[in-house]
Amino acid sequence: MTEPAPEWTVVHEGDLTLTDHEAIAAMLAQAFPDWDHWYVGGRSWSGMQPERRVIATVDDVVVAHVGIRRMFVTVGGRDQLVGAVGLVGVTPRLQGRGLGGELLSRTAAVLDELAVPFGLLGTGEDRVPFYGSAGWRLLSDTAGWYSAFTADGAGLTVVDDEGWLVLPVRATLEDWPGGELHWDAQLV
Ligand SMILES: CC(C)(COP(=O)(O)OP(=O)(O)OC[C@H]1O[C@@H](n2cnc3c(N)ncnc32)[C@H](O)[C@@H]1OP(=O)(O)O)[C@@H](O)C(=O)NCCC(=O)NCCS
Repeated sequence: MTEPAPEWTVVHEGDLTLTDHEAIAAMLAQAFPDWDHWYVGGRSWSGMQPERRVIATVDDVVVAHVGIRRMFVTVGGRDQLVGAVGLVGVTPRLQGRGLGGELLSRTAAVLDELAVPFGLLGTGEDRVPFYGSAGWRLLSDTAGWYSAFTADGAGLTVVDDEGWLVLPVRATLEDWPGGELHWDAQLV
């Protein structure tokens, strides 16, 4: 049977209903099975709550999702505005069919509308090529500090030595300050 084309929306956080949060959480629990005890009920975020969501639905079921939030991080001791990106997921049933790529291209359009110089996210080594295929660039030799508020714990400082990626949006990669990355907060 042919899968119906998903319907895409960009939603302001404040416009989400409880039902929307529940539908997003249900999809995230499937995309991140190790964390399905975290995305329960209406908890549709992990650490920092996003300000915008890009959502794909099929028959009112969420099949792909990303969260975006503008914030300042400290890079090499300098404040840097970024569009933090996270909660990136495609429902397992539809993975590997291009939905993730479309999600990232729509994410880039939202980051441009938000007029941020860069998108920023952290990921595991195995997913770097996925983001790379959408123009995200790996920050080599960059350690990043953030405060966890996730299923892994709350208020714990976490350091990741790799897996930080930037997307040049209204700036070029050469404009990225370079140096250690401090979130002073949770990740989206
Ligand atoms: C990662 C994820 C969002 C990708 O979505 P998807 O719909 O499966 O990806 P697509 O089919 O659109 O693939 C897009 C491109 O990325 C590549 N890609 C996708 N997943 C990949 C992976 N795990 N490793 C390497 N490349 C990958 C594809 O080959 C494709 O490349 P191409 O454009 O050169 O053909 C999805 O697999 C998922 O939700 N995974 C579980 C949750 C997760 O890990 N989220 C990311 C957290 S940071």
